[in-house]
Order: sequence, then C-alpha cells, then structure tokens
Amino acid sequence: METKKSVSIWAATAESQNHPPLDVDVHADVCVIGAGIAGLTAAYLLNRESKHVVLIDAQDVGAGETGSTTAHFFPPDEWYDTLINSFGTEQAQSVATGFAEAINLVERIVANENIDCEFIRLDGYLYAAKEHGSNEIDKELTAAINAGAEVQRLDRVPGLPFDTGPCVRFANQAQFHPLKYLNGLAQAFERNGGRIFGRTRAVDLKRNGNLQKVHTEHGVISADAVVVATNTPFNDRVVMHTKQSGYQSYVIGIRVPKGSVPPLLLWDTGDPYYYLRLDSPDGETLVVGGRDHKVGQDEHPEHRYAELESWVRERFPMAAEVIYRWSGMVMEPADGLAYLGRNPMDSDNIYVITGDSGNGMTHCTLGAVIVNDLVHGRDNPYARLFDPARKPWRELSEFVTENANTLSQYGDWLKGGDVKSVDDIAPGEGAIVQSGVSKVAAYRDPDGQLHCVSAVCTHLGCVVSFNSAEKSWDCPCHASRFGIDGEVLHGPAKTPLAKH
Ligand SMILES: Cc1cc2nc3c(=O)[nH]c(=O)nc-3n(C[C@H](O)[C@H](O)[C@H](O)COP(=O)(O)OP(=O)(O)OC[C@H]3O[C@@H](n4cnc5c(N)ncnc54)[C@H](O)[C@@H]3O)c2cc1C
Ligand code: FES
Repeated sequence: METKKSVSIWAATAESQNHPPLDVDVHADVCVIGAGIAGLTAAYLLNRESKHVVLIDAQDVGAGETGSTTAHFFPPDEWYDTLINSFGTEQAQSVATGFAEAINLVERIVANENIDCEFIRLDGYLYAAKEHGSNEIDKELTAAINAGAEVQRLDRVPGLPFDTGPCVRFANQAQFHPLKYLNGLAQAFERNGGRIFGRTRAVDLKRNGNLQKVHTEHGVISADAVVVATNTPFNDRVVMHTKQSGYQSYVIGIRVPKGSVPPLLLWDTGDPYYYLRLDSPDGETLVVGGRDHKVGQDEHPEHRYAELESWVRERFPMAAEVIYRWSGMVMEPADGLAYLGRNPMDSDNIYVITGDSGNGMTHCTLGAVIVNDLVHGRDNPYARLFDPARKPWRELSEFVTENANTLSQYGDWLKGGDVKSVDDIAPGEGAIVQSGVSKVAAYRDPDGQLHCVSAVCTHLGCVVSFNSAEKSWDCPCHASRFGIDGEVLHGPAKTPLAKH
C-alpha cells in the first residue's frame, strides 16, 4: 500500500463532515466554539439539558487535534508521582476519580447513543525507558496507589515480543476511534435539535449587556454563555498563553500481523517518550507516537518519523510497512492539569476548555461536564482544581522556563533571513527572507511557484518558522500555525498572515 503523508488513520477511515456555514445572525442560550471532543461533548451535554446550543467550527467536526490524536484514555501523563508533589495526595485522588468518571461518561454516551466507534476497555502499562529504571516504576506505583488508581506491578508487560522490564498496569482504561465517536456525538446533538455551522471562524468575542456576541466571518451569534473549545483560546491574548505551551507530537501507523500484538495501551517514561496502541481491538495497524518538540522549533522534523519507525522495528520485528504518518499539537499546561471552567476574564459567562496535555480525551470530557454544571449554575467538585484562573502551584520553575523560552523566540527579529534571496529556495521548501525592514515567509511549491506572506505572527508578533513535514508556518512563541498562503491552521492567532 502507498505510504500516506500527514493523514491520520482516523481521518482516512471515518466519514468527513460538511456542515454549512452560518449565513445569518442568530441567538442561542449557549454558543460553543470548536467542534473537537471538548466542544462537541459540551454542546451535547448542554443540549441534552434543554439549552438551545449553536456549535460553530472554523473547519468542521473533528478537523482539529481530535482528528490527529492517538485516543488513549490513560492516567495523567505527568504521572501521579508528579501530581502528588505538585498538588498533594488529596487532589491527585480527585484527578484519579475525575479521570475514571470521564471514561465512564464516554462509555455511557457510546451505549446510549449507539455510537459505533470501536470503544473498548483495556489495560494500560507504563514501563521504564531505561534498563535500570525500576525505581521510577516503583515510585509511580506507590503514587498511583495513594491516588486510589487500580494498579499492579508486573515484571514485564504481557504479550509483547520484547522485555519491557517492570511496569505498572493501570486497569480498566479505554480506547476508541476518535472521529467515529465525534461523528456519532454530532448526530446525537443534531437529532436533539442542536445546530452545527462549519467553515465559520469566530474572530471576536464582545460583551453586550448580559449577552456575549460571537463575531464570525459570516454573522454574529448572540448568546447568554459562550464555551471556547478551540484547543487553545483565541479570545485571550496573553494570560492563558503564558500558562501552556504547544508541542508537536508525531505518529506512524505500521502494519502488524493480526493477533501479534494484544490490545493494550503502552507508554514509556523516556524523554523523548513513546506511546502505542492498536488501531482497533482486532486491528492490524500499530499506532505509535512520540518524539515531541515545541511547536515552531524544528524546521525539518521528518527525522522524527524515521526515529519512531526504527524504535518500533527494534521491538516489534514482525512490523511490516508504514501506512500512515501524521503529526498534531498537544497543549501542555504548566502544572500538568488542564484548564477547565470559567475564563479568567468575563468569567460569569465565558468558559474555556484548554491545556489538556496528552490526556485530551479525558480532560476534554471532564471539562465539558464541569462547564455544563457551571452554565447551569451548579457546583462541580472538580471546578476548583481545574480552574483556569489558578496560579501555577508548585510547578513555578516549569512556568518560568517555558516563558523564558517564549521570550527568547522574539530574538528571531534580530536575525537576518534564513536565505539571502527567494532564488535560494528549492521547490517544496520554505524560508524566511529579509526584505528591507520586513520579514517575508516564502514557500516555493513543487511547480516552482512562490507563495509569499508576512512572517510576522498575527497573534503577538513573533517570527514564524517553516515546518517542512507539514508545509506550514509555525510560530515558536504560542504555537499558532498557518498554511503556506497564510491561513490560520491553529490558534491563538485568529487572522491570517498578511499577504506580501
Ligand atoms: C499526536 C497526538 C496524540 C495524542 N494522543 C492522545 C492520547 O493518546 N490520549 C489523549 O487523551 N489525548 C491525546 N492527545 C491530545 C488530544 O488529542 C487533544 O487534547 C484533544 O483532541 C483536543 O481536543 P479539543 O476539542 O480541545 O481540540 P480540537 O480537536 O483541536 O478542536 C478544536 C476545534 O476548534 C476549531 N477552531 C479553532 N479556532 C476556531 C475559531 N476561532 N473559531 C471556530 N472554530 C475554531 C478547530 O477547527 C477545531 O475543530 C494527542 C494529541 C496529538 C496531537
Ligand atoms: S502564537 Fe503568539 S506570537 Fe505567534
């Protein structure tokens, strides 16, 4: 089979959605912005409790990171040991309970709405990347027990063709096909009277008395409450973006003989780390991810696919050809927990779900539950712990390091271009070119045609850099991404790079 580039196995095996754009001004009880797992789950829950909900997406259902995920339902990827150090044992217990409730909710939705999305419960395993890493495994085991998770220590992960060494088994985790789940959720939402508008980007959010007005490219939605579920909030210029950072994660889908790998979720403790699962319970594709880097800080990331492949081949000698490869963005919160609930500004009727780390399936589902309760004026037991306005507790050093990294990116203004002239850019390549006082992002397509846009990110003015694997312009500061003609692929930017 021909190798497919930058198309996730999920996008290739689920129906794509095509909702019409908004074409008139409308009113709703709640406007949800973003139709990934966060926005759709929130819209579904709100609508089920009789709220009149309008859901908009700049593209359509599942076009964002939920279409690029690997969809493990797994313990917090900062691990319980870190969470206990940062938040204390009681809060780590809350995280364990909240995560378990999120999986239960997804399981109930799948059953109640009859969604055919290959959802199964299965065990997840964490093993030490280093040969003598049993200490870190024992530490995590103790922490997970203290947090109340259902865990067990094993000498190795069962059923694998390589010896992982000691591991922690987390029972009763889950996996599914994320886009089939979203499609089913969207249908259930629409069956119950919810409305979805595709190709409708929110460009501004303005208060008008008690209402919020969502300005889109095609009309205005006025609503009593707004849920910003755009993966990273487009409505907040600075505050939330100092509390989280975007990391690009890489995935390959590689063929394996049926039955040669048992259904399980696997993570190692390495840096860089690796994670894997089968595409479906009896699948023949091993979905393997990892080799993350900060967005906009590797111009030639193709080597990461090769590294993933050799990692797999070393451990799974029966692996055959790579049939999928793709990458996507993970928003890493400064202290390891997502930001779920009231927006720090205009907190009475704007809600946000972001910073979900590599636990977006669980965090976003839990975020939707929290937001649904808050919109209905109810308390939620997790609201305080995940409050987006919280200070980064004891993880201050991580917060400072990430923000120092962001500030250092502004130094790109002082550099000249990557090349002297556009003549130096080969077909299929892009580079920054200095033109007087301006910086130009120039891409030469395979036919030789040049595409030139301003290299100045429309969020807060950093200089973008080329990503040769995705053919995109990525901002190293707060992870906005743009297409070669400047269109926004990922926020927080909400307007395209200027034409040059
Ligand atoms: C490679 C990879 C592996 C991962 N693995 C896992 C895993 O194993 N387990 C796990 O739990 N999580 C994992 N994650 C994380 C998880 O996929 C994400 O956290 C989650 O999908 C985010 O969902 P979301 O709804 O917040 O965002 P998205 O799915 O990105 O949805 C946001 C939507 O908002 C729309 N939008 C953006 N801006 C606007 C605007 N201004 N107006 C209107 N619409 C807008 C976008 O088009 C998009 O459809 C992984 C992520 C990646 C990239
Ligand atoms: S994303 Fe903030 S400056 Fe580019």
